Amino acid sequence: MEVLQYTKTPLQVAGLRRLCAVWQREGGFWSFDELLPLLARPGSLVFFAPGSTEPDWDAALLVDVGPFEADILYVYVTPGRRRDHLAERLFERLVSHLRSMQQIEAIFLEVRISNIAAIHLYEKLGMTRQRVRKKYYSNGEDALVYKLAVDHQAQ
Ligand SMILES: CC(C)(COP(=O)(O)OP(=O)(O)OC[C@H]1O[C@@H](n2cnc3c(N)ncnc32)[C@H](O)[C@@H]1OP(=O)(O)O)[C@@H](O)C(=O)NCCC(=O)NCCS
Repeated sequence: MEVLQYTKTPLQVAGLRRLCAVWQREGGFWSFDELLPLLARPGSLVFFAPGSTEPDWDAALLVDVGPFEADILYVYVTPGRRRDHLAERLFERLVSHLRSMQQIEAIFLEVRISNIAAIHLYEKLGMTRQRVRKKYYSNGEDALVYKLAVDHQAQ
């Protein structure tokens, strides 16, 4: 699997746009237009798995990298490629990238308390549950906050 960093070429934007449309059909909350301002942030990075046909993507991970922490904004794998370890590999790629940034201490994310697949993924990756954000989502659902410390000693 080729996993690349976001470089804001038209091809890559098209890949993300198509992936957002798939997620929206599945009832997801991020539209491409909502993601655009996040992509424009100076610290934002996108890692993705290209699909079999250009410009399709099979998976994407969008992260906002601040001075000391990275916040995951978006993780999505197209339904036909789930349980193929794409999400796991995108996270590994992100962690290896962040290890080269000495000042980054941790990765954080929020997840719906009902999202069992994502919770299993984050716990498999070694993320630890920090706290509950009550009624964080617009439908009143709670969010769990997860953290992964970035180990700069690891290979
Ligand atoms: C959550 C999601 C990103 C996982 O992507 P994925 O590529 O299928 O996950 P992986 O194949 O890398 O799975 C890695 C591990 O996560 C766990 N996992 C993933 N999906 C799971 C599921 N449906 N049920 C239980 N555990 C699951 C397993 O531990 C798995 O390891 P294993 O297959 O060796 O047991 C994917 O289901 C998805 O895109 N869901 C919709 C969008 C979403 O919910 N994003 C997260 C928002 S916070």
